[in-house]
Amino acid sequence: MKIVTIIGARPQFIKAAAVSRAFEESKKIEEIIVHTGQHFDTSMSEVFFQELQIPVPKYNLSINSLSHGAMTGRMLEEIEKVLLLEKPDCVLVYGDTNSTVAGALAAKKLHMKVIHVEAGLRSFNMAMPEEINRIVTDRLSDILFCPTEQAVKNLIKEGFEHFNCKYHCVGDVMYDAVLHFLPIAEAKPDIKKRIGLDQYIACTLHRQETTDNKIHFKNVIEALDVIHKQIPVVLPIHPRTKKMLQSFELEPEFKIIEPLGYLDMLNFVSGSALVITDSGGLQKEAYFLKKCCVIIRNDTEWTELTNAGYAMLTGYDPTVINKTVTKLLDTKLSFAEQFYGDGGAARIIANTLLK
Ligand code: UD1
Repeated sequence: MKIVTIIGARPQFIKAAAVSRAFEESKKIEEIIVHTGQHFDTSMSEVFFQELQIPVPKYNLSINSLSHGAMTGRMLEEIEKVLLLEKPDCVLVYGDTNSTVAGALAAKKLHMKVIHVEAGLRSFNMAMPEEINRIVTDRLSDILFCPTEQAVKNLIKEGFEHFNCKYHCVGDVMYDAVLHFLPIAEAKPDIKKRIGLDQYIACTLHRQETTDNKIHFKNVIEALDVIHKQIPVVLPIHPRTKKMLQSFELEPEFKIIEPLGYLDMLNFVSGSALVITDSGGLQKEAYFLKKCCVIIRNDTEWTELTNAGYAMLTGYDPTVINKTVTKLLDTKLSFAEQFYGDGGAARIIANTLLK
C-alpha cells in the first residue's frame, strides 16, 4: 500500500512520528512524506525531524508566511502535482491546519482516498480557522480516525453515518508519542537548570484569537504578568506571538524563551506546576504528564478534560484567568482516566488501513 502523507505544522510532525513508525513496523506500507513548509524555522520544523526520527520528506514545498487563502491555494496547486506524480492508494492528513485542508482537497479532486487522523473534533467556533479546516477535511475524508468517543459523537450528529465513509475511534496518536518519547526526553539535561528556575508555570500562546486581537492579547499579557509575581511564568515563544508583541508594542514581564523542541517541551511541562495555553495539543500533553491546564479560550475540542476538572476555560478576562490559575494550582486529581486510548492508536491505524 502506498500512502502520501501531508504535513506542515509542528503538531503534525509529532503525530507523524508515531504513525510513520507504525507504518514502517508493518513493513507493508510505503509512505511518501510531503512537507508543505508551513512551519519552516529550525526550531519550528527541523528539530522535530531530527529528534523524532521522522522519515525525511521526499518533497518540501516551502509554502509559508502567506494569508490563509494564498497559503491554502498554493499548497493545493503544489500538492496536486505531487499526487499526480506519485499516484498513491491514499493520502493521509493530520489535524486542522491549512496544510490539512489543502491536502484533503487536492486528493479528493483527484478521486484519491483521503485518510484523516484526528477526525471529528469540534470547538463549535466557526471564527477559528482550525474549525473550518477540520469540518471541510472531515467531510472530504473516506477514512476518519477519531481520538475520542466525543469526536465520534460529533460526526454522528453531523450525519456522517449516512455519508460514504468509515470512522473509527482509535485513541490519540499524541498519547502514543508521549509514551514513546518521554523516557528519551528524561535522559536529556535538566530543563530547569537551563531556564534557571525550580518552580514555574509552563505557558504557550499562538492562536490568532489570542494574538491578533489587541484587547484579548493585552488582557492575557497583563494577567500573566500578575501571576508571574507569585510564581514565574515561562513562555517558549511562537513566531506569530513574537510578531504580534512587537506590532502591539507590548513588553511582558514574564520570562520568554525560544521555541522548544519536542523532547525539551515534554520535560518543560513535566517539571511545571501548571500549564496555561491556547494550544489544542498541549491541553492533552498536560494531562498525559499529570498537570492541570488553564485554557485561554472560550471553547475546547477536548471536553473530557474540562468535564473532569483537569482543565478550565477562562476566555480572555484577566480576573478570570488569575482566579482559575489559583484554583488549579491547588487542585489535586488522579489523572487516571484513559480518555485517549492506551497508547496504541498508531498501530490500530496501520492495521485498519491494511485490512
Ligand atoms: C498553525 C495552524 C494551527 C496549529 C499551529 C501549531 C493553521 C490555520 N493554523 O498555526 O492549527 O495549532 O500551526 O503551531 O494552519 N512562522 C515563522 N516560522 C515558522 C512558522 C511560522 O516565522 O517556522 C510565522 C509565519 O510566517 C506566520 C506566523 O508565524 O506569520 C504564523 O504561522 P502560521 O503557519 O500562519 O500558523 P500558526 O499560527 O503556526
